[in-house]
Amino acid sequence: MLELSRIGFELPGERWLFRGVDCCLRPPIQIAICGESGSGKSSLLNLMAGLEQPTEGKVAWAGQSISDMSVNERLDFRRSRLGFVFQAFHLVGHLSALQNVMLPCLLNNWTEQRAHSAAMALLERLGLAARAGDFPRTLSGGEQQRVALARALVHSPKMVLADEPTGNLDPSAANRALETLSQLCREQDAILVMVTHSERAAMMLDEQWRLADGMLVRPNHEDERT
Ligand SMILES: Nc1ncnc2c1ncn2[C@@H]1O[C@H](COP(=O)(O)OP(=O)(O)O)[C@@H](O)[C@H]1O
Ligand SMILES: [Mg+2]
Repeated sequence: MLELSRIGFELPGERWLFRGVDCCLRPPIQIAICGESGSGKSSLLNLMAGLEQPTEGKVAWAGQSISDMSVNERLDFRRSRLGFVFQAFHLVGHLSALQNVMLPCLLNNWTEQRAHSAAMALLERLGLAARAGDFPRTLSGGEQQRVALARALVHSPKMVLADEPTGNLDPSAANRALETLSQLCREQDAILVMVTHSERAAMMLDEQWRLADGMLVRPNHEDERT
């Protein structure tokens, strides 16, 4: 469970990107974050990942404040509990599709064999088994993003953070990638938080949040504290 309490993020020049952000996310909730470019969507994801520290307020994972964790604890939290998907895929160019997907498992000290079978199972599931040995540059955008999805989910993270994951794909590839992402997160009982510009993509998830004028607006939200 991820809990943000009264989070504020201040930019140089005493400008607040956002302030007073409160939320409590329990699996398998799926959230879309929308908002104009520059409204702070990526910064909010970075706070959720413990990659940035809030200026005020607290981010807690399973009751433990992320800012109270040591550098190593924070690294371990990200490595074992989180999965990331980016707009530009960010696959490692000199590794095959399979090796890219195995990477998070190996970083978590899984055996080669266990990593291999988990990665192959996901690649098969995503229709990419035949491409397992191929390098990213030989794959289409849609295929690369499906490899990236497999890499984000292979180690069964508790939360997947996706920053405009379908922004570089054509509409039909985008749709397929998104459905896959949402379905895999549900199956694995992981929280999904996704930044998107697509209204249609946002509507596929449970809640649609909007960052605007330094505030987080949650239209169809029931207060978790009541
Ligand atoms: N650590 C930082 N220092 C200075 N400016 C930052 C920092 N993080 C984000 N910003 C600024 O905050 C604004 C929002 O950034 P971002 O979170 O990337 O928005 P979005 O993802 O919604 O486009 C941008 O103007 C960016 O330059
Ligand atoms: Mg952004």
